[in-house]
Amino acid sequence: MTSLVNWLDERFGLNTIWETIFRRKVPKVNWFYTLGSATLFVAINQAVTGILLTLYYVPTPDHAYATVQYITYELPAGWFIRGLHHYGASAMVILAVLHMVRVVFYGAYKYPREMTWITGVLLLLITVGFGFTGYLLPWDQKAYWATTVGTEIAGTPPLVGDFMLRVMRGGQELSEVTLARFFGVHVWVLPALLFTLIGVHMYLIIRIGISAPPKKEEEPNE
Ligand code: HEM
Repeated sequence: MTSLVNWLDERFGLNTIWETIFRRKVPKVNWFYTLGSATLFVAINQAVTGILLTLYYVPTPDHAYATVQYITYELPAGWFIRGLHHYGASAMVILAVLHMVRVVFYGAYKYPREMTWITGVLLLLITVGFGFTGYLLPWDQKAYWATTVGTEIAGTPPLVGDFMLRVMRGGQELSEVTLARFFGVHVWVLPALLFTLIGVHMYLIIRIGISAPPKKEEEPNE
């Protein structure tokens, strides 16, 4: 068995990857440093439960509401999977914001971690984008009118407003095109962006290493 592992390791270099990722040296930190990993955990939960939901959800005006009702009230454990995805969405926003607050308070955005911060800002925007596009998918009254208002707001800036509204709605009115568009962005575009950027964020964290909590300055000798 050991010789097989060694044989594979000589070819794949998995041991080096394992050592670099999981056995790297980290400074002595506190519980606030777990917020990034907690956000990552919820992001993975969203991907897994989201994929499961798409097995039954149909993104068309005549089926969206009915399939969500079916998932919630008839499908075994459907309520549980939907619940994990629903509450996970709020948890992810809250955790990402708390993680960002931690980074600000510890000054961890400073050199050489500017790009970790910038990828983080993009991750937060994508997370909010998930919330906005996901909210329409149940296609109930709340979803319909919230998206009507949301896209209306996007339509208010001068010059570009009307263009943005039409791009978001796929026309002047909220319609089946809007639902298809929001679904496509929610399950294809945003996940691709999110997991690519998480990859870059994690690469930087491993390459640069995380910052140690700042120490109280030494009292000057007088
Ligand atoms: C999907 C969202 C995000 C995930 C999954 C994520 C994940 C992580 C993880 C696992 C760490 C290392 C452990 C830690 O310090 O907590 C980390 C560090 C870091 N993150 Fe995030 N993060 C996210 C969003 C953000 C946001 C919104 C910002 C700021 C705008 C940000 C900025 C940073 C910075 C600067 C570090 C380095 C901290 C240090 O070296 O002490 N991240 N992130």
